[in-house]
Amino acid sequence: MAERITVLVVDDEGDVRASLEMILQYEGYDVWTARGGEEAVARLEQEERAGRTAAVVLCDVKMPRVDGLETLERILARKAPPSVIMISGHGDIQTAVEAVKKGAVDFLEKPLEQNRVLVSISNALREKRLATENRLLKRKISERWELIGDAPVIVALREQIARVASSNASVLITGENGTGKEIVARQIHLSSARAAGPFVTVNCAAIPAELIESELFGHEKGSFTGAHERRVGHFEAANGGTLFLDEIGDMPLNAQAKVLRVLETHEVTRVGSSKSMPIDLRVISATNADLQKSVEAKTFRLDLFYRLNVVPLAVPPLRERLDDVAKLAAHFLREIAERTGRASHALTADALNYLRTRDFPGNVRQLRNVLEAATVFADAAGVEREHLETVLANGPGLATATRNTDPAGDPFDAPTFEAFKDRSEALFFKKKLGEYGGNVKRTAEMLAMQRSHLYKKLDRYHLKD
Ligand SMILES: Nc1ncnc2c1ncn2[C@@H]1O[C@H](COP(=O)(O)OP(=O)(O)OP(=O)(O)O)[C@@H](O)[C@H]1O
Ligand SMILES: [Mg+2]
Repeated sequence: MAERITVLVVDDEGDVRASLEMILQYEGYDVWTARGGEEAVARLEQEERAGRTAAVVLCDVKMPRVDGLETLERILARKAPPSVIMISGHGDIQTAVEAVKKGAVDFLEKPLEQNRVLVSISNALREKRLATENRLLKRKISERWELIGDAPVIVALREQIARVASSNASVLITGENGTGKEIVARQIHLSSARAAGPFVTVNCAAIPAELIESELFGHEKGSFTGAHERRVGHFEAANGGTLFLDEIGDMPLNAQAKVLRVLETHEVTRVGSSKSMPIDLRVISATNADLQKSVEAKTFRLDLFYRLNVVPLAVPPLRERLDDVAKLAAHFLREIAERTGRASHALTADALNYLRTRDFPGNVRQLRNVLEAATVFADAAGVEREHLETVLANGPGLATATRNTDPAGDPFDAPTFEAFKDRSEALFFKKKLGEYGGNVKRTAEMLAMQRSHLYKKLDRYHLKD
């Protein structure tokens, strides 16, 4: 049976109450009535103690003692208030306008027309549902980027995030692979005044040097060979929000000069255009390289470094906060269960102790991947130490765990030559990435590959998130 929806009717005239009650009950609503503001609020309080609420209140404007506007205020002052629709006498439009300003969702004029009443109620219910969905969605998003952990270093980091979020300052986040730099960047954005604006991520290492300008600043149609369409750049797309420049240490020098200019002038010009446009954004950058060393080696501009590094934030490696492993593991096991639609596995005490003795070169990402792979072996007893050992023996879990659609099955079982090549490549990159601690930059160097090329491969084989 569908959930019953309750409407509270507040009117000092008995006839109005009775006819509304009849109409609404006929439509399937539960109806409460009250003769005035005080009675209405008392009824809401009393029902709330019994765990019941009204979704909508129909409230007369002209009532003796506590009038409609005051009733409205008292109702809206409650926690999770119902939607209030005002009922005004003929010609009382001024009060109705005031009521809407105070937060009423609609007003109806007497004499009441049955259809208008029902439409107004169903509109109010729909808006309420949308608002709830929206809130849930927002909560889901912020959960997705939740920064788990209560080690002192994380508590301090969280305080720094809160402080910097309220400013517009550029932030440079440093930390090893997989420590949670992106999470920190998202948290800053979500707790800032720009939260409703866009969050645009640019992986500076994944863009080929010759395309970086057009990716960052956009281009006009025909501005160079291959520019078939006009393109909005990342800076423009982040207008009003936050631009996250990931792997900033890998930005080519010529692009660095241009980025600096945009940050200084707050204006961006598309490639092939003569017009500049104003932009308003906050820049957060992240790197696992030592930018100061890059500055000394003249591969990173000192002036840009100063501009980006107004507030430095360091994310600690997991081995410096092994106390957080339990919390993180519980979080990931829940997340894995949700994603796969299976019951959540627990971690045995022995397994947890084992994890707490690892040094996690791939940090939190590695922990997550190891757990994901281990749940494949786990049964009702949960994830046990031997499952973790098996996973770690088969590779340190630095690359993303095998998924059902993973092409990294045995190449020799591949049905076609194409599939054979895919599987071999995937296995190769997975192994190499593991060997180099999940560090893409180093892996690319060791394999003598363009970093952007390697990124494409990793993306294709789901080897990195
Ligand atoms: N404190 C944390 N709480 C919850 N999840 C975390 C935390 N830190 C990291 N993770 C998870 O670990 C993974 C890696 O995190 P993230 O991508 O933010 O790392 P990173 O520092 O940007 O790594 P890289 O340098 O490789 O880009 C993500 O799946 C992220 O959700
Ligand atoms: Mg990252």
